Amino acid sequence: MCGIFGYVGSPGASNTILTGLKRLEYRGYDSWGIAVKHNGSIDMTKQVGAIGDIDLSNKLNRACIGIGHTRWATHGGTTVNNAHPHIATDGSFVLAQNGIVENYQHLKAEFEKKGYSFVSETDTEVIVRLIEDTLKTTRDLTTAVREAFLTLTGRNTIIVLSADSDRIIAVRNGSPLVVGIGDDEFFFSSDTLSFADKTSSAVLLENHEMVKFDNGKLTFVNVMTGKAFDPQIQTLDHTTTTIDKEGYDHYMLKEIVEQRDTIREAVQYDESEFAPLVNAIHNAKSVYTVGAGTAGFAAGQIAYFLRTVASVNAVELKSYETLGFENHFAKGDVLIAVSQSGETADTIEAVEKAKSKGVAIASIVNMMGSSLIRLSDHAFLTRSGPEICVASTKAYTAQLSWGLVLAFASAGKFKDGVSVINRVSKQISGYFTDELFSRIKGIASGICSNEHFFVLGKGQHYYTALEGALKIKEITYKHVEGFAAGELKHGVIALIEKGTPVFVIVGDDEHRADMYTVAAEVKSRGAYVIGVADRTSTLFDDMIPSFPGGIADPAVKIIGFQLLSYFLGVALGNNVDKPRNLAKSVTVK
Ligand code: AGP
Repeated sequence: MCGIFGYVGSPGASNTILTGLKRLEYRGYDSWGIAVKHNGSIDMTKQVGAIGDIDLSNKLNRACIGIGHTRWATHGGTTVNNAHPHIATDGSFVLAQNGIVENYQHLKAEFEKKGYSFVSETDTEVIVRLIEDTLKTTRDLTTAVREAFLTLTGRNTIIVLSADSDRIIAVRNGSPLVVGIGDDEFFFSSDTLSFADKTSSAVLLENHEMVKFDNGKLTFVNVMTGKAFDPQIQTLDHTTTTIDKEGYDHYMLKEIVEQRDTIREAVQYDESEFAPLVNAIHNAKSVYTVGAGTAGFAAGQIAYFLRTVASVNAVELKSYETLGFENHFAKGDVLIAVSQSGETADTIEAVEKAKSKGVAIASIVNMMGSSLIRLSDHAFLTRSGPEICVASTKAYTAQLSWGLVLAFASAGKFKDGVSVINRVSKQISGYFTDELFSRIKGIASGICSNEHFFVLGKGQHYYTALEGALKIKEITYKHVEGFAAGELKHGVIALIEKGTPVFVIVGDDEHRADMYTVAAEVKSRGAYVIGVADRTSTLFDDMIPSFPGGIADPAVKIIGFQLLSYFLGVALGNNVDKPRNLAKSVTVK
């Protein structure tokens, strides 16, 4: 979702900002813009679509300061006019925003009455007019930005560039904001990954904190109190910040293959590091897991592991559907939040609600220094490295592997959990063969003209069915539904017709016989049955072969779906790393 990148330092700011924006591309965007200040005026470039190989060095190679933005449309279509930054009527400043101004309609109507005009359909332009209006009385841009910011409702992070002096002001509420501190240069960004090749020192701002670069120096202020404070400068771990396809055609395939290591990395913790969380779980009246999308399915699977391995009565909540549970949240409960980015607005809101009721927050997150980590009492990192493909693959299996070990630790068998993961990790390493890839490519080319697919799973593979279906949807834009196999006869079977591809997940578990029955039932209605299984069966028309992963089988069987999605997406000519309409980091509700 939207990304902010500001820079002040040496000449060539335009290209530095473009490079920074490219490193934010993975978040998902549909248009972009940059504004640099030179000789007392602002020069802007805005475009719809991807940044591509544009070079701005000839245009304004002397500018030393500027801001940029990647936009994922919320209010107003994908047009150059709606792309950020947005400029003040008198050209005295430009502004870019991440978030949604929830009171923008009210503010817009007020400013229209006052005679202000709007050139875009965005909620962002309202902030620009608000600052302009406040400037009439305050006469100082920093004061006006602060006062305007306090008038906004919703989660908003903004960055402002002044035309008349070398000044950048940025304020955070909700969407992330970090400041990279280099040698005589500063970076203002939505994440540390965007400047990780330039500096390893950064300040991670909290909500309601403002940073100002003016007169060659940085100042940090709490916007609520107006008081300046000394920031904590953190040192980033550069080993997890490389962004490179490493010879693969796409990040998606690279990240799928990386699972041979990432599921093991996610459990590199000592038992003592799990102990405080395990203790909180044992003492809790209620244990919840929460997430959205793929992370929501991982949250469901983690609750399943806690119930089945450790007899903990864990309940899965969807981040965006916690309203009915709010009255039940109580001091002493535990909520485990699952997220790759650690910035998902729905998940953060659920966590904030629970936290306000005294619930202890645990999280399993991939992005260091993210909001969710900072909100957590028990924070764990998946340590999967950057996941650039918008569709989550390695983060999902890492979350599962961590959740499985948490469940084993909660059952007093931490070491057994780690051994299961180590074994499966070794097996996954041998799983990625040319033979497997050709087989799945073959299945993909046989079904890529179909429009409807169904995925059925049971027990430990209920969430595999849901996540498998989501993966195919995201990359192929086909209609794919994942169901609990038990639902089949209660309605779903009406959708099966001759040739409909149906994926039947058969694990090495107590549901094997039921899943064969399900395969027979859809087959007898004409379905093209594709087993996702460890053993062949005459019921299967085709099969994605796998190996038995035991209790960790959900982290194994999903890989077949990830590969199938990838090869289907490639066969269909889709942009597999950046599927249409999707954003990697969903920082608005
Ligand atoms: C996964 O493929 C998705 N694109 C999406 O469902 C994602 O899992 C969801 O938006 C949650 O993101 P998070 O893990 O960063 O919280």
